Amino acid sequence: MARPHVLLSAAVSLDGCLDTRPGEGRLLLSGEEDFERVVSERASSDAVLVGAGTLRADDPRLRVRARAPREHPLREHPLHEHPLKVTITRSGDLDRAWRFWHHGGPKAVYAVGAEARRRAVAALGDLAEVYEVTGSGTWEAVLDHLHTLGVRRLMVEGGGQIHTQLLRQGLADELQLVVAPLLVGQADAPRMLGPGPYPGGPPHRHTLVDTRRIGDVVLLRYALNRRPGTDERATAADLAWLAEACELAALCPPSRSAFSVGAVIVAADGERLAQGHSREGGDSRVHAEEAALAKVAGDPRLRGATIYSSLEPCAKRASRPRSCARLIIDSGLRRVVTAWREPDTFVVAADGAGLLRASGVCLAEIEQHAEAARAPNAHLPQ
Ligand SMILES: NC(=O)c1ccc[n+]([C@@H]2O[C@H](COP(=O)([O-])OP(=O)(O)OC[C@H]3O[C@@H](n4cnc5c(N)ncnc54)[C@H](OP(=O)(O)O)[C@@H]3O)[C@@H](O)[C@H]2O)c1
Ligand SMILES: [Zn+2]
Repeated sequence: MARPHVLLSAAVSLDGCLDTRPGEGRLLLSGEEDFERVVSERASSDAVLVGAGTLRADDPRLRVRARAPREHPLREHPLHEHPLKVTITRSGDLDRAWRFWHHGGPKAVYAVGAEARRRAVAALGDLAEVYEVTGSGTWEAVLDHLHTLGVRRLMVEGGGQIHTQLLRQGLADELQLVVAPLLVGQADAPRMLGPGPYPGGPPHRHTLVDTRRIGDVVLLRYALNRRPGTDERATAADLAWLAEACELAALCPPSRSAFSVGAVIVAADGERLAQGHSREGGDSRVHAEEAALAKVAGDPRLRGATIYSSLEPCAKRASRPRSCARLIIDSGLRRVVTAWREPDTFVVAADGAGLLRASGVCLAEIEQHAEAARAPNAHLPQ
């Protein structure tokens, strides 16, 4: 199933704590200006999730600003007036007096098992929609379900248990970490992350996408979830599949107004899942990656699969609401191999590679096949 882009957001002290020890009141880590940034980040998400532990400890309102519902060229669903506010519980021990339920937007609860669901419904009545999930594969089920509700970008605001689980299970795509200039210094204070194992282990480096000073705190933004060992490096199998994608490009009916591109999707076990090429089926608007993806929509193997495309996937297009880079991100695919950077022929500075990398997708570019990728496009200005 396709899943939302998962953004983990947290503020920590210099010694990695989320708060002081339980019972000491809530520790304010970030400043007013950063809080406004967090509220804006919520406004560009479809849903915001916090664990029941944070609701119990802090009774946060989780303020979400009303916004004008809007369409976006890169989205198939419009943003609603408010993001959905979501929590998760095993115990079902929730309190209808918590401020979370009484501010902005629809609310959803994921409860593990029938008893937790019953308790949550009894406590909340119609304050929230309560969904039952099972104790194994819980997060996959929650993310799959949120996707069916139209959630494409999920912002997760802790606490530590939630962040740890999503990271350990390799389900998080992005981390926005604010570091505040204070030291908690308590061994029993809650930490941002518990022990691993984390995918890839200690040697695996994530990608620093951005750093920003906001008052006296620093925002660090990382792209996560790259499959260890495969990041930007290409294997012999990659070369062979990419050569096939370039051969497919040669099958495209030539056009004066669009590139000829070929794409092949290959599962982690080496099985060919689908392929496509530009203008397939005689539709002049069809792109290769789009054609290939349409044949395997919703296939769970996409998460471990690689898409080989002779040309860098497009980041913007006039003829469709979603670009190929966006379709790839939304499909759950996590690895892209291409032969040729998109020249400025039709779109100036189209940065499909940047969009993919910023969303945590691994991208390998294999120069060796660039000539083969260009050949069917020799008639176009480049
Ligand atoms: N600085 C920050 O950015 C920040 C952000 C958020 C929180 N915090 C701090 O973090 C602390 C709370 O963190 P925490 O780790 O104790 O709580 P948490 O991660 O917010 O929530 C833990 C609770 O979530 C539920 N849960 C966790 N995993 C689950 C799963 N797989 N399935 C179903 N339910 C699951 C359980 O609820 P039940 O107990 O109901 O079963 C569990 O007790 C507080 O001190 C808070 O101030 C800081
Ligand atoms: Zn495209």
